[in-house]
Amino acid sequence: MVERPEPVRDLDWDAKRARAFTDGVADIYEELLTRLRDLPVSRGWGVQEVRDAVAIPVPDEPMPEDEILEYLRTMTFDYSGYLGHPRFYAYISGAGTVPGAAADLLASGLNMNTGGWRLAPSGTEIELAFTRWFAQQIFGLPVGSGGALTSGGAMANFIALKVARDAKAGWDIRKDGVGAGPALGLYVSTETHIVSIRGADMLGIGSGNVRKVAVDDGYRIRVDELRAAIAEDRAAGIHPIAVVANGGTVSTGVVDPLEEIADVCRDEDLWFHVDAAYGGPAMLADDLRPLFAGIERADSVAFDPHKWLYTPQSGGCVVVRDMELMRRAFDVDYVAYVVKDEEHTDWGIDLGRNSPNFSRGFWALKVWVSLLAHGRTAYGRRISHDAALARYLGARAEESDEFELMTPVGLSITCFRYVPADLSASGARAGEPDRDAYLDLLNNRLMTEIQLDGRVYCSNAVLGESFCLRSCIVNYRTEAEDMDALLDVASELGAKLDVELRPQALR
Ligand SMILES: Cc1ncc(COP(=O)(O)O)c(C=O)c1O
Repeated sequence: MVERPEPVRDLDWDAKRARAFTDGVADIYEELLTRLRDLPVSRGWGVQEVRDAVAIPVPDEPMPEDEILEYLRTMTFDYSGYLGHPRFYAYISGAGTVPGAAADLLASGLNMNTGGWRLAPSGTEIELAFTRWFAQQIFGLPVGSGGALTSGGAMANFIALKVARDAKAGWDIRKDGVGAGPALGLYVSTETHIVSIRGADMLGIGSGNVRKVAVDDGYRIRVDELRAAIAEDRAAGIHPIAVVANGGTVSTGVVDPLEEIADVCRDEDLWFHVDAAYGGPAMLADDLRPLFAGIERADSVAFDPHKWLYTPQSGGCVVVRDMELMRRAFDVDYVAYVVKDEEHTDWGIDLGRNSPNFSRGFWALKVWVSLLAHGRTAYGRRISHDAALARYLGARAEESDEFELMTPVGLSITCFRYVPADLSASGARAGEPDRDAYLDLLNNRLMTEIQLDGRVYCSNAVLGESFCLRSCIVNYRTEAEDMDALLDVASELGAKLDVELRPQALR
């Protein structure tokens, strides 16, 4: 007689228990939203303190739900950084939309696998609708374009470069490998984000074969130098395949001359990729869109919803002009345990075959619901406002005798530095050789002090040789008073550091 296993229900929560726990989590979220503005953006924690508090032992027996909720509350309010705080303007990190957070709960609850259409019919079609909409309606790519969501900009650029490599190598590189042909050349500017260079490494192109083309005074790629680098490489037997143009550089928010780069790619038969991980959503803003003229000629574009669509971490996106090339770059002939009967079914695309991930979550829902909840117009208005706030900060830095604006504001990025009034450009010390070295040291320490202080939170850029403070607003909660606060805190902490650090020779 076969022994019938008894049910094991430990993990099988009923709807009532699920609701109670979810309500507990929602209460913490509500409290977070209520208190957010009054919380410090960050605190000066050290690693051991946080580790001791959050890395608790995994119990053998269940932890009671009220204890878990208390643990989550402590984690939330005592040991978390708030990237959605109105005074967080560091790096490029979107504030996280409220409807996006709620949608993420449902996406997890549904637990669809967008690797296969049959496992995620709505999930797949929503992801495809989003990528098609952005590719065609926003970037102006033709019918047939579309793409996929990714974990972020690094993967979005990587996928685009993989499609580019396979389309432009000229041999069956997927099968025969990079060693079966000449070295491949990839062209970026000195301002291009390092993920493209790492992508070249991951694709076997080799980071040494990435040419970092010089930029002009405004940090835009020099197209004449680009053409020269391609010609030089061809003469040396290298096979150029693609150019990565910047649609908003990470340091200064500059958009490369996309039309001119598109011309180069046309003339040289190269793949035209735009890394618009940061800037892409600025296409929704009427006043910023003209900067991106030429993007509609791209073969691929990377852009990050978790940056300037403000959606919760993490979610990037890659779109390609021709979805068929993306399928060809990732599909495998046959997966023995995934049989698809095309004759007896009417199923759509399996995204797990069109991109590197096989199993994939319902990453699109938080992005899609955010767009539905706010609409295109509100997005455009807010993105435009972020850029206006950045210009306001730049203008305030410029008029101040304690700050210097280091370069014109690009999109929503402002680069400036603290300069004690008696060291200002018009001051007695202007032009002294030690002055710049000291200002680098001072601003370097100042950035760290600002981050440890936690009332405001900016990051840095290094422009040429100069270390500067950098604010990037991809935050729908930030307003002018938060820009003022950044300068106030930087001035207060900068003055203290100046007393401590200034060398005798500059006193
Ligand atoms: C222009 C650009 N490309 C790529 C990336 C990498 O994106 P992610 O951090 O989402 O992987 C960034 C990040 O700031 C970026 O600004």
